[in-house]
Amino acid sequence: MGIASRPAVGGPQDLFYSTTTTEDLPRMVRGEGIYLWDDQGNRYIDAASGPFMTNLGQGNERVLRAMYEQGKQLSFTYVRNTRHDANRDLADRIARLAGPGFERVHFTSGGSEANEMAIKFLRQHAVATGEPERFRTITLMPSYHGATLGTIGMNGDQDAPAIYGPMVTFSEKIPAPLTCRADSAEAAARVSLAALEETIARVGAHTILALVVEPVGGQSSGANVPDPLFFREARRICTANGIRIVHDEIMSAVRSGRFLASHYEPDALPDLVVLAKGVGAGYAPLGVMLAPAAMVDELAELTGFNISHTFNANPISCAAGIAVVDEVVDRDLCGAAERLGAHFRGRLTDLMTRCPLVGDVRGRGMLLGIELVRDRATMERFGPEFDPADRLRLHAARHGLLLYARRQNAGRFGDWSTLAPPLISTAAELDELAERLGRALDDAAEELLV
Ligand SMILES: Cc1ncc(COP(=O)(O)O)c(C=O)c1O
Repeated sequence: MGIASRPAVGGPQDLFYSTTTTEDLPRMVRGEGIYLWDDQGNRYIDAASGPFMTNLGQGNERVLRAMYEQGKQLSFTYVRNTRHDANRDLADRIARLAGPGFERVHFTSGGSEANEMAIKFLRQHAVATGEPERFRTITLMPSYHGATLGTIGMNGDQDAPAIYGPMVTFSEKIPAPLTCRADSAEAAARVSLAALEETIARVGAHTILALVVEPVGGQSSGANVPDPLFFREARRICTANGIRIVHDEIMSAVRSGRFLASHYEPDALPDLVVLAKGVGAGYAPLGVMLAPAAMVDELAELTGFNISHTFNANPISCAAGIAVVDEVVDRDLCGAAERLGAHFRGRLTDLMTRCPLVGDVRGRGMLLGIELVRDRATMERFGPEFDPADRLRLHAARHGLLLYARRQNAGRFGDWSTLAPPLISTAAELDELAERLGRALDDAAEELLV
């Protein structure tokens, strides 16, 4: 929508975003399963599940009915002065799936809020247990943890200080163990671990509250999967220094092939885990902080975790979450993520062999990324002026494929398209997706590789 054709009053949310990335956004009018239809009658496959969220696709009857039934029975009651069954039942289900060490479940309205709750919980616990000097967090560069002022400080985003510098407390940053251009995944992990140890020595272990990492990277790294060494050594180093580890699984939970991606390293589990997208699956705003009973109960007896938001654990979101989790379990969607993810990854690897724009395929389960390169032999990046993933998004739309493109760090760490189809996709639908992506990549290569 050009500036001149904007309505005088109102209009859609994208009026707030840059005109360079909101030209010709399709106006969606209907959804069914993994497909969306725009007002021109064009059908799209939703290749990234919106922003990596609609795991059950569109129009899931069980979830919608559960929300309606809950709303009719008990629309809202506040968790600070009442209890309700949907809260308890969803907490029970999630804690059982998360397993030992994650017995207590705190609900929020989304991912950023869950990350902030995790940090505030750790801070209150530290103060209440006689460690008030612990306040720093360590995070990866690049990384993404949210859009609130607190989480903006945690994000591995080199452009954030220029805007928010005077207002935000920034975390200590260490290099993310990015595998794409590293000599090996293990070598990348070693660089990150050395930086972790250097940071602890520089600022003092006793001042550090937590290390916060995504066990499978999200959009900020295009589904980077760190070497297992990173998790094992980070756990050892943090435990030795009294530093807590938080896994940001806002994107990876449910879709990595396990309920938690953290379960891939059972000997290096974090202290806290935060989830969001796959729990509400797009039907309700819902985020989760998982914590050990020992810590929650200890703090409850001292001061309590005294902070909350009005919508925390609200009945309709919890009812949606229960139905989503029941669908995930009954249809074995974590297993599907593993099986279909392997199938889809094979298709993406086929595309890489024939399309010179694709320099790497990575990820876990149904959270995958393709690296977009100017020259595959040298893995040359596109540079700051040009956003190849957004160009690919535009080509893909013409082939009936909806991609998610949101460049971070101005392409300094590379460019990618992150692919995360709904977990209800069939193998045939994923083949169709890959075929459309192939055509979009051919068009993009013709435009970008001159
Ligand atoms: C890894 C990760 N952390 C945190 C967030 C923030 O979640 P929300 O947008 O629900 O606040 C996101 C959202 O994309 C994410 O992918």
